[in-house]
Amino acid sequence: EAGEHESFMRKEILEQPTTAQAVLRGRLDERFGTAHLGGLDMDARDLRAVRRVKILGCGSAYYVGQMGAALIEELARIPADAEAASEFRYRDPVIEPDTLYVAVSQSGETIDTLLAVQEVRRKGGRCVGLVNVVGSAIARECDGGIYLHAGPEVAVASTKALTNMFLGFALLALQLGRVRDLSIADGKRLVAGLERLPAQIEEVLAGEADLVEVAKELAQARSLFFIGRVRGFPVAREGAQKFKEISYRHAEAYQTSELKHGPLALIDPEVPTVAVVPLDELTDRNVGALHEIDARQGPLVVITHDEVDLGEIGARRVVVPRNEPELDPILLTIPLQLLAYHAAQHLGHDIDKPRNLAKSVTVE
Ligand code: BG6
Repeated sequence: EAGEHESFMRKEILEQPTTAQAVLRGRLDERFGTAHLGGLDMDARDLRAVRRVKILGCGSAYYVGQMGAALIEELARIPADAEAASEFRYRDPVIEPDTLYVAVSQSGETIDTLLAVQEVRRKGGRCVGLVNVVGSAIARECDGGIYLHAGPEVAVASTKALTNMFLGFALLALQLGRVRDLSIADGKRLVAGLERLPAQIEEVLAGEADLVEVAKELAQARSLFFIGRVRGFPVAREGAQKFKEISYRHAEAYQTSELKHGPLALIDPEVPTVAVVPLDELTDRNVGALHEIDARQGPLVVITHDEVDLGEIGARRVVVPRNEPELDPILLTIPLQLLAYHAAQHLGHDIDKPRNLAKSVTVE
């Protein structure tokens, strides 16, 4: 039962400070600035032998897989990317022995992800799982893995499981990094960042009331853009996914850098843009793009950090706390969950069971 909450989705959003602690518990090593992931069943030599990482998942799990790939490339300096598991087996993929395949799934039952795992294993590859449901089909099919400990997730739109997927990738990236060239100082910096995260998630959730009006405004639009760059792009993709799933509005994610190569033609007062603009090496370029949108009277909602100066534009600012730059994407994601939620709530939709969608798709 959703209990005092009007929906499971809201209950699950608000649980995140607690569930985030659960995935980290017992896995962080402050002394050596690393993570311990016994369930992976890989020793330091196995971890060092990994030359490439390929992440496979569907829907939100695919988008968080893109965030995970960025974490692994940044912290471990191993080439990594994510692919929609639903496409993977149909292109007769080359499976390499020194690639680590990672299947990501809340339910552990998504057929497309399961068949991708089987494709990897049939061809002799090693596949580990980032799975929430213990003993599920994908967990059983994998060589080992990281359980997400988010507890049961009922709402179709994934929130707390997705956050724990991100944290699972951070732990994996840390462990892969620390058997390579990631310094102990950087390792300790990230361990401390991970320990700070649950309280910072709580801080973002405390700002919920300020997002309700913004969400109502966005709910009026028939079509919206979600934009971000590099670390912010999968955040924008996930934000657009949540928004379309439960508000039934057309929401399209774009790299901010690609705006001038097409979508700018659609910007006008009727088409709002939700922009992800963290304080990082791309802030100035991101802000420049916001000015392009503003010049065309495109309404703007900017998910950003306090230190970011947007200049003279008419934008709604949504400020989140900063962590370490590598871990910031998950804090930038939380307000997008709340925006989608309150837009759908305002429109009177069945939030936990959006039309045409199922929590896990177990038939092809
Ligand atoms: C889709 C759901 O069908 O499956 C998404 O609508 C979900 O919300 C995706 O992200 C993947 O599910 P799972 O259980 O494999 O993480």
